[in-house]
Amino acid sequence: METKEQYLLEAKNLSKYFPVKNFFGKTIQQVKAVDRVSLSIKRGETFGLVGESGCGKSTLGRTLIRMYEPTDGTLTYDGDDITKIKGKELLSYHKRMQIIFQDPYSALDPHQNVREIMAEPISVFEKLSEKEMEQRIVGLLEKVGMKADDMGKYAYEFSGGQRQRIGIARALSVHPEFLLCDEPISALDVSIQAQVVNVLEDLQKELGLTYLFVAHDLSMVRHISDRIGVMYLGKVVESGESDEVYDNPCHPYTQALLKAIPIADPKRALSLEQFGMKGELPSPLHVPSGCRFHTRCPYAMDLCRQQEPELEERTPGHLVACWKK
Ligand SMILES: Nc1ncnc2c1ncn2[C@@H]1O[C@H](COP(=O)(O)OP(=O)(O)OP(=O)(O)O)[C@@H](O)[C@H]1O
Ligand code: SF4
Ligand SMILES: [Mg+2]
Repeated sequence: METKEQYLLEAKNLSKYFPVKNFFGKTIQQVKAVDRVSLSIKRGETFGLVGESGCGKSTLGRTLIRMYEPTDGTLTYDGDDITKIKGKELLSYHKRMQIIFQDPYSALDPHQNVREIMAEPISVFEKLSEKEMEQRIVGLLEKVGMKADDMGKYAYEFSGGQRQRIGIARALSVHPEFLLCDEPISALDVSIQAQVVNVLEDLQKELGLTYLFVAHDLSMVRHISDRIGVMYLGKVVESGESDEVYDNPCHPYTQALLKAIPIADPKRALSLEQFGMKGELPSPLHVPSGCRFHTRCPYAMDLCRQQEPELEERTPGHLVACWKK
């Protein structure tokens, strides 16, 4: 039986809108990047977040770790309401929630060597002597499969996979509990993607970390995630245990995404149209009425155009937002 304490992070009706301003600085429109999303992430699990480019995955992830201030809704971390916290209080949660970026090259300062890159976040939270700092950094580098000698080198001296390892070590340097992994392997060569995933999996086991893993590659997400959420135009439209969602996808959008996984030829472009899904992702400036997927859904009915379906439990733990049963 699940208890509330199992959840490390809980979002209720969480929204993040970006204002679009005119020449005079007046807000004329809102980009509804995340629109009333409710989801819970359990302590120690990997929650995978998938969906097309521009559907709001990074914005949701960044709002969940309070890199962005929510526009609306509530956000609870380890039982505490962190929706509106600021300043020192917010900083204390940023120590607990860290991020690994997609592109390790642009995330690492080219003017700093590895020692400086790693010392920066540590110094925000702890006063360590030179020796203690060095020991901490060597320990972190070894955890991600790098060597003490690497401390004096600069980002350009490493391969993409090594840079991502440094990015992971940097995120771990302040002992976080929760890591937002925002497409951490998509910029890497296929041959080294699995190595970086293995590093993340080993660290999770060793340190008891909780991951929110954002990705385009649905086959990789199944492999790494305990549960997944499928996002469409700012909304989570389906979520549940990974195997359950992959084996029994209920939302027409999830069904199209899964059919489009290029199994036979990994280089084949992801084409959703051939699976009955029409057109392109609408703009989050003009979210369609009712079910926001109705403009592309092959099963759309009148009800779909008029009323928005909420997430409902189809089987235990498997939630779907769709009128078609
Ligand atoms: N800082 C911002 N200001 C204005 N609009 C933004 C901002 N960040 C994101 N958006 C918009 O919000 C929407 C969601 O973007 P987001 O980057 O979260 O999507 P994503 O699912 O992570 O896409 P990708 O898979 O390409 O990384 C997009 O329409 C994007 O243009
Ligand atoms: S609610 Fe209607 S339009 Fe939306 S996904 Fe379900 S069937 Fe398609
Ligand atoms: Mg993104």
